[in-house]
Amino acid sequence: MSLISTVSDESIKRAAERLKSGGLVAMPTETVYGLAANALDGRAVARVFEAKGRPQFNPLITHYAELSELKRDAVWNDLAEALAQAFWPGPLTLVLPRREDARISELATAGLTTMAVRMPAHRAAQDLIRAAGVPVVAPSANASGTISPTAPAHVADSLGAALDPARDMILAAGPCKVGIESTVVDLSGPQAVILRPGTVTAEEISRVLERDVTYAADSTDAPKSPGQMLRHYAPSIPLRLNAIDLEPGEALLAFGPVKFMGIKGGGAASDLPEDMIRNLSEERDLHEVAANLFVMLRALDQPGHKGIAAMSIPAQGLGIALNDRLKRAAATG
Ligand code: TXA
Ligand code: MG
Repeated sequence: MSLISTVSDESIKRAAERLKSGGLVAMPTETVYGLAANALDGRAVARVFEAKGRPQFNPLITHYAELSELKRDAVWNDLAEALAQAFWPGPLTLVLPRREDARISELATAGLTTMAVRMPAHRAAQDLIRAAGVPVVAPSANASGTISPTAPAHVADSLGAALDPARDMILAAGPCKVGIESTVVDLSGPQAVILRPGTVTAEEISRVLERDVTYAADSTDAPKSPGQMLRHYAPSIPLRLNAIDLEPGEALLAFGPVKFMGIKGGGAASDLPEDMIRNLSEERDLHEVAANLFVMLRALDQPGHKGIAAMSIPAQGLGIALNDRLKRAAATG
């Protein structure tokens, strides 16, 4: 079967099945084509980063078709309500606190305590999300560092080789109306801040909220390009990389078998108590590592532990992003 299918009831159903089984679906939205994956499935989210060749894990936008579903994951507030009434469904993304019981993968939000959410206006995107029955992450469907795709052929040119026709799909619906990515407004703090300009302007947002809205670049305590934001998540205890043995009191973030790892002064890593060891992937599967990374770092980040020792992960393919993320976590820890 070819990678590209024109939007129809049948192709949307097939695309929804693929999303549910961990596949990637390039979907039309009113802004740009997005590379969609089931937001609840950390491995599928990891495949998005891999397919795009992103050198690091930027937090992604989670897309919903129903407000009631969105409210299960993000903490809603009055400003969000006002903007949603005015602009949704449409090319506006809101950054809100992530609920403690949010269902979505930690990788989707890059381990942050906030999350970006959006309800796309494109009918095919809405139908796909409803049919899949899950929220989807969807960064622009192009290789990292290239121009965002506004037509199905752009997606095929940029990502065709990275997608698997047996698992993934490009849903084609002609060119995108908006063509640039959505406006991103951060509502997680005391002020509304525009993190990424788009077709919904500061003036429009300001009018709806009846208050001033600033651009991130204008403000002195400049919030956070995605790259900088990644540094926000670091464990509160030291993180030591490329560990080949353990200091007494250290917890272990393992990768692959730990049978032969010792603890200085005596003992074996395999005898560590359950709260002191997590294995990112016993089978050395880098997708599984990506899905587990933030969750397991958090689990081991306990004041009773002297630190976290992380075994090395090969710096190839998806491993480049994983090592980038680990290095950032270690640098500020
Ligand atoms: O128009 C769009 O928004 C497209 C279509 C496909 O929906 N999607 C898109 O997604 O552009 P993405 O993942 O490429 O854009 C994510 C943007 C980045 O600027 C990122 O920094 C910001 O959203 N973002 C995501 N989560 C964030 C968070 N928790 N805090 C601040 N910014 C966040
Ligand atoms: Mg992009």
